[in-house]
Amino acid sequence: MITVHAAIPFVGQKPGTSGLRKKVKVFQQPNFTENFIQSVFDVAERPDQASLVIGGDGRFHNRTVIQQAIRMAAANGYGTVLVGQGGILSTPAASHVIRKYGGSGGLILSASHNPGGPEEDFGIKYNIANGGPAPEAVTEAIYQRTTAIDRWLAVDTPDIDLDRLGQTQVGDMTVRVIDSVADYAELMESLFDFAAIRTAVKGGLRLAVDSMHAVTGPYAVDIFERRLGFAAGTVRNAVPLEDFGGHHPDPNLVHARALYDTMMGDDAPDLGAASDGDGDRNLIIGKGIFITPSDSLAMLAANAHLAPGYAGGLKGIARSMPTSAAADRVAAAMGIPAFETPTGWKFFGTLLDAGKATICGEESAGTGSDHVREKDGLWAVLLWLNIIAASGKSVQQIASEHWAQFGRNYYARHDYEAVETKCAVALMQDLAAALAQLPGTAFGGLVVRACDSFGYTDPVDGSVSSNQGIRILFDGGSRIVFRLSGTGTQGATLRVYLERYEPVGGILDAASPDMLEELVCAADAIAAITRRTGRTAPDVVT
Ligand code: G1P
Ligand code: ZN
Repeated sequence: MITVHAAIPFVGQKPGTSGLRKKVKVFQQPNFTENFIQSVFDVAERPDQASLVIGGDGRFHNRTVIQQAIRMAAANGYGTVLVGQGGILSTPAASHVIRKYGGSGGLILSASHNPGGPEEDFGIKYNIANGGPAPEAVTEAIYQRTTAIDRWLAVDTPDIDLDRLGQTQVGDMTVRVIDSVADYAELMESLFDFAAIRTAVKGGLRLAVDSMHAVTGPYAVDIFERRLGFAAGTVRNAVPLEDFGGHHPDPNLVHARALYDTMMGDDAPDLGAASDGDGDRNLIIGKGIFITPSDSLAMLAANAHLAPGYAGGLKGIARSMPTSAAADRVAAAMGIPAFETPTGWKFFGTLLDAGKATICGEESAGTGSDHVREKDGLWAVLLWLNIIAASGKSVQQIASEHWAQFGRNYYARHDYEAVETKCAVALMQDLAAALAQLPGTAFGGLVVRACDSFGYTDPVDGSVSSNQGIRILFDGGSRIVFRLSGTGTQGATLRVYLERYEPVGGILDAASPDMLEELVCAADAIAAITRRTGRTAPDVVT
């Protein structure tokens, strides 16, 4: 029986860079979650009896929302819901399941790398039939709908057993609880040379993976320990916990510090990797060497042909604007196009669908390819393993040879978190207003060549996105980018992206902080960060 629940709109249901993200307490308000899901169902393009994929990263509130989404889907004319066992689907696995089973879309419940628990964050993201995040036209339509919503529909039925594989009827709709890992693991086997990696493991190749008590634990144990034969215990923090063990499931040098220390230690394994809450991000550390995500993208692209899934070459490489230009140099050497898109994976979707790009990446530890329509943390680890196994080279060797061939883009991102929103917005506005005066100005040895507020016209569908961050480009290929985060849940986060290019023959083996000092000073001189925010140092450096 379908019940109609009266509702009034909530302010603030506008999806950000990656869906709607709020504190759990906000989602727990009566009607808040239901209004949003109903708005998705009201605007989503879907045939009658469509199938919907639902899964999440296992954080607190995941199961509650899944049960409610199932009741609502049944009342809204869906024919089938596919849900991961225990409510678990990593973001890339959800993308794959949507594509493989012809889903009309999916609800991915995650706040990615943000902490979880009753006092922490939750999120809902809608992905469309290609498996990728809803494009802006769709998220905007969802948002518009949230401002006018006056009812939501549900069937009156008890919770289903999410832990038992198999089918259940909910009203006229079939709910299938599917294995969270199997489809994804098979896809990985089809892309990479598992036999070669297994041989390398027998020959002594060692790996350390930190799943950060988040969604990739079951995937990583199955793929690395069971299918590839790495030693038991290769995957640490492998059990997903609702609060991620009280940590931020953010695979960076702050939150994955223990892994970093292992990798810098005497008896370090050959490769260290971590992934985030929902499994789309990755951290890559070689024995004694951290690889920035921007470099990882470039090095993976340069060597991807060593993996069977990419043996035919790449069609193009895409990166988000704040990501370093290292990948562009690889694309140029290969004679394939390089795309520079706004921040957020959704902008890669059209390029991947149109066959214009094969590999994509973001500086925020996101890398992926056309195998799904999300970034994919474990995919990046597997491609690194495949390259190491096929080439017989260490991460250090791969990196040194890469820089010797292409030059090196030293890179760091400085985040100033929970800045008062008004203050952050004013900083960006004043910066934008001052751009016209900057070209030709010198900051130490850095001379501004050009600057702009980044705008993007999608080369496939022509859609335009403006105000996507401020770029200050210096002579010689160095750069500073200023942007406000679109995923934060508290105040504003100012991101300052620093990049210094050293050409072939330049200083290629220095420590990044030393090489970026001048850019840090220039950033403060240009944007008056300290004076305006009172902050003398960033909260997080990645
Ligand atoms: C951040 C990252 C961005 C990524 C997004 C979702 O967005 O910077 O690259 O796509 O998370 O994972 P931001 O908070 O900067 O808007
Ligand atoms: Zn994520």
